[in-house]
Amino acid sequence: MKKINIINGPNLNLLGIREKNLYGNVNFIDFLNEIKKKKFFSKIEIDYYQSNYEGKIIDYLHNIGFQSDGIILNAGAYTHTSIAIADAIKSISSPVIEIHISNVHSRENFRKISYITNVCKGTIFGFGLKSYELGIMSFCL
Ligand code: DQA
Repeated sequence: MKKINIINGPNLNLLGIREKNLYGNVNFIDFLNEIKKKKFFSKIEIDYYQSNYEGKIIDYLHNIGFQSDGIILNAGAYTHTSIAIADAIKSISSPVIEIHISNVHSRENFRKISYITNVCKGTIFGFGLKSYELGIMSFCL
């Protein structure tokens, strides 16, 4: 069975509450429970971790990053600032996909800069919560 890890960074614990026009009105745990019911995902073990702290995200990447079959990472605003998370991704062996709910390229200029794109296997953005689903699916092809 494939083991996939989803990591959400800062403020993504407030999905369903924060800036609904950008991020939707669905709570992430509810979304996760729904996709776990889908047949396509029935043979995948999906673990979820969320933290608002850069160092905790790095610790988690170190902990799972040598045995996970695929990591889905929405680093939130750390995407645009964190050399430390980019270095952590470089240090582990599991492949990482960068995820964004919103179309970061249609927003403020600072969101067009990502410190992690070049160390990730790929990037998916702009499909709402479906961005996560597409990311998980990509590890099953
Ligand atoms: C985000 C985009 C980031 O710019 C922002 O800071 C977030 C969420 C997204 O999923 O669209 O917190 O990563």
